[in-house]
Formats: sequence, C-alpha cells, structure tokens
Amino acid sequence: MRRKLVAGNWKMNGSLAANAALVAGIKQGLPADACDVAVCVPSPYLAQVQGEVAGSVVALGAQDISAHASGAYTGEVSAAMLQEFSCHYVIVGHSERRAYHGESDAAVAAKTVAALQAGLVPVVCIGETLAQREAGQTKEIVGGQLDVVLDALSGEDAARIVLAYEPVWAIGTGKTATPEMAQEVHAMLRARLGAKSAEAAAKVRILYGGSMKPDNAAQLLAMEDIDGGLIGGAALKATDFLVIVEAASGVVL
Ligand code: PGA
Repeated sequence: MRRKLVAGNWKMNGSLAANAALVAGIKQGLPADACDVAVCVPSPYLAQVQGEVAGSVVALGAQDISAHASGAYTGEVSAAMLQEFSCHYVIVGHSERRAYHGESDAAVAAKTVAALQAGLVPVVCIGETLAQREAGQTKEIVGGQLDVVLDALSGEDAARIVLAYEPVWAIGTGKTATPEMAQEVHAMLRARLGAKSAEAAAKVRILYGGSMKPDNAAQLLAMEDIDGGLIGGAALKATDFLVIVEAASGVVL
C-alpha cells in the first residue's frame, strides 16, 4: 500500500513569526499515526523551518530547484543547497512556475533529474487549464506533461518521484475537481506510469492539488488512486492543514 502524503505548498507566504507559529501548531496537533507530512517553504526560510521540524515527522520541502549544479545562474537554488538544509522534497513544475516563468515540459524534466540525482524527492506538478479541459484535451495535456518527464528517467528513477495532479482552474479558485473527475485523471496517470515501469505504477504517489480543503479532503482522499494532497491556501492555517492530515491518516472525525 502506498503511504499517503500531505504536503503544504506555502508559496510566497510567511514570515519568521508566522512560520514559527504555523509549524508549532502543526506539530502539536499531528495525529499519532500520521501519514507522511511535509511543508514546502520559501527558500529564505529553509534554515528556520529545518530547525523547527527537526525531531518531528514533518519533512521539509522547497518549491523549486535549478536544473544546474552550480554557476552563473543568478537567483537560482541548486539541489545540493537544498540538501544542506535537510530538504526531503522539492516541488518542480508548479503551474505558477510554468505560467509566470515560462517553464517548459523539458525544463521541468531537467529539474526532476537534478532533484533525483541529489537524492531529493521531486513532487512533479502537472495539470490542464480550463480552456484545455473544456476542449476535451485533459488526458492529452497532462499525459503529455508526464511523458516528457518519464522520458528523461529510468524505470527505477520514475518509481522515486511523487506526482501531483493540479488542474490549473482549481488552484486558489475554490473550485475543486470532483473526486470522480480527479480519480479518472489519476487512474490514467497511473496507467502511463505503468507503461514506463510496473514498479513506478505501484509505488508513485499521485497527489491531488487545487483547492483541497478540510471540507472536501476526505472524499478526494478516499479515491483509489489519490495518494495525498498538495495543499496551498489551506496549508497556511494549522487547524485546516491538520484536518486534511487527519483525513489522509485515516483518523475518523
Ligand atoms: P490551493 O493551491 O490549495 O490554494 O488551490 C494548491 C497548489 O497550488 O499547490
């Protein structure tokens, strides 16, 4: 059985004081048999949050990575740097990076490779826009985004990634894919993983992201191929985040 993962994507939010309160609240309220839990924080706060999650089950993650190892890449952060702060996860290819920073599928694939080479677990984000969904292109778009990444990986490496299906129209909008809509895409993605390697299909956790909240998390997480959530807005409030963690941990509310 795949262990569920609930990862908070703080995006460009936080402050030293707010982060300390948020992490303390999460640690305090974690259920005894919690699923895997992570917080993906802005780079300047990696050292702070590294200290605050130390000794707890909360894993640290970053929100982006350079495809390059080092050198003249102003503003970028390498996998080795993230490693020094005990990062376990790094988000790659978030739709906000694709939309506002022009990240192509090829760039996302290169970042995925860089993360794996450094021993980080990439959380590879894919998803269709509203126009693409309405044009009936969802499978083609997200399948294609996944295939470009898988083409850059061995079967063994493919089994080490985390995938996040995040329909762009559901991110930060309050609109969520229904559990059935999400499950349909997740099942298709698992079949694509299976075409790469049976191990990848069995092991890769496919998270749902896009307005996952306390009141819809349990239904989404009950679907066969939804192995957790990548949480934006609801990850900024410990009580909301914890309800989602509890739902993923099988705590009966
Ligand atoms: P949201 O963001 O939960 O605020 O919709 C999810 C994400 O972008 O990862």
